[in-house]
Amino acid sequence: ADAVHPHIGKLAVVLITQHLCLLVQVLHDLAVQLVYAEKVIFVPGFGLAQAQAQRELADLGELLKGHGVEVSYAIHPVAGRMPGHMNVLLAEANVPYEELVDLDEINPQFPQANVALVVGANDVTNPAARRPGTPVSGMPIPDVDKSQNVVVMKRGRGMGYAGIKNERYFEDNTQMPFGDAKKSLQSVIAAVKELLA
Ligand code: TAP
Repeated sequence: ADAVHPHIGKLAVVLITQHLCLLVQVLHDLAVQLVYAEKVIFVPGFGLAQAQAQRELADLGELLKGHGVEVSYAIHPVAGRMPGHMNVLLAEANVPYEELVDLDEINPQFPQANVALVVGANDVTNPAARRPGTPVSGMPIPDVDKSQNVVVMKRGRGMGYAGIKNERYFEDNTQMPFGDAKKSLQSVIAAVKELLA
């Protein structure tokens, strides 16, 4: 057993290091995509409030706008846990009111978006809403799948309030840098600043 244990320890270190390198790479790739984008749509959800990452998201938006990227926030009517939750959260971070766009207005814009960045939203982006017989059936959802790339910031593939899986997380053009939204956004902000320096 003594001969095996040191190897298990080393293997764990190798696997954790590989995982961290991959995460850093995905977040760096996201920064590159954002810097070269013409149009980016942020899709916030309850996880943004849980991570208390609203200022980081607003800072990222400001950085990109300063670089000439068009930035908007898709506001789902039941994102979060209370009416107007995302509006309140983002207003707290001084996001200009005109950048908060309702679903009806933002949905036709996804085909022009280079990146849809979903931050801590789950149920309100679940494609299961488009077919009958699920707890979210009939709910309008943002057409993130029509954008060139979808990136979802969450800690894992965990469920949201409705307690169902989100098939979006298994689609080819969806990237998921797992982690706390605040930390992931901080890494992306640092990478964007480096790219713009
Ligand atoms: P949810 O479906 O609840 O999903 C939130 C996601 O945030 C979770 O799946 C979680 O995934 C992620 N998360 C939690 N902490 C995080 C962190 N620190 N960093 C990054 N991600 C984190 O949220 P939603 O999409 O906003 O949908 C709202 C739901 O609440 C709907 O089902 C809606 O019907 C319901 N609801 C809304 C209201 C109103 S009025 N807004 C009232 C009652 C109920 P991980 O664990 O994988 O990170």
